[in-house]
Amino acid sequence: MSTTALGELEAQLETLRSEAIKAIATADTLEHLEELRVNYLGKKGQLSRILGSMGQLAAADRPRIGAVANEIKTALQNSLDARRSQLQAAQIQARLEAETLDVTMPGIYRPQGRIHPINSIIDRVVDIFVGLGYTVATGPEMETDYYNFEALNTPPDHPARDMQDTFYLPDGNLMRTHTSSVQIRYMEAHEPPVRIVAPGRCCRRDTVDATHAAVFHQIEILAVDEGLTFTDLKGTIKEFLRQMFGELPIRFRASYFPFTEPSAEVDLQWQGRWLEVMGCGMVHPNVLKAVGYDSEKYTGFAAGFGVERFAMVLHQIDDIRRVYASDLRFLQQF
Ligand code: DAH
Repeated sequence: MSTTALGELEAQLETLRSEAIKAIATADTLEHLEELRVNYLGKKGQLSRILGSMGQLAAADRPRIGAVANEIKTALQNSLDARRSQLQAAQIQARLEAETLDVTMPGIYRPQGRIHPINSIIDRVVDIFVGLGYTVATGPEMETDYYNFEALNTPPDHPARDMQDTFYLPDGNLMRTHTSSVQIRYMEAHEPPVRIVAPGRCCRRDTVDATHAAVFHQIEILAVDEGLTFTDLKGTIKEFLRQMFGELPIRFRASYFPFTEPSAEVDLQWQGRWLEVMGCGMVHPNVLKAVGYDSEKYTGFAAGFGVERFAMVLHQIDDIRRVYASDLRFLQQF
């Protein structure tokens, strides 16, 4: 066998070595590195192919080539291992960087919602009366003349029925002008004893100004039982106002409502002035009769007040229209 064949083979091996070392050192992914391994060291790879041609060599030369081949194999293996470790480390590093939390980054501002001042007053009032043993009752905002007026002992010529005050619907129904209508609906459906607190929206044909809204809220109180007296009414109202406004002077003034007899208005001394805060009275026997209660056996007391009014007093709001303007600068204060 010629020395040329030996030399050529040695040259081929050296070329393979230098090429492979360079390729391995610059492989940029683990997948690419694996391809290189298969290409150079695999069963059908370049090293095997060169060794396959050892048959041409003289038997005496074979160990020498074999030794060189083994040396190359080990060298490539080492380069592959070294490059693999580098690439794996880089991969971990890249992942760590990608998953890093920058705790100095500004947070995302999430505006916090609040309870509207009207709802929060309704909640407080309901809580107080629930604490006194009352249950919450509601009724429709669109009412019949019967529930809003007639059953509440309001005769057809009563000024409250004036077209100026009530929104009538084309079918003869109306938007309730007060929550007193809930008294009738509740009593029709329940036997005494009755103790209800009824919050709700009401409407009136008022000219809208700083103290009047066409749509507003009221809370109605009704208690019916055997032996209830005006003293029970006074005690209940006093306790309620004490929990709501604190220990303040209050006074009851004689008044008139068609559905109560006697009737009174309650004033509260608030920041040095007497403020009218609610209407109340002993349920008129005609109202009890209208719902089929025995007015000889049962007596009751009732009260009603405007929620917006309470809000304006408690929060010193100068104009009722602010409450409904949905202006966050206003609403965020509560
Ligand atoms: N419904 C009356 C109004 O809207 C308020 C009121 C007064 C309710 C006396 C009552 C009451 O239950 O007893 O002005």
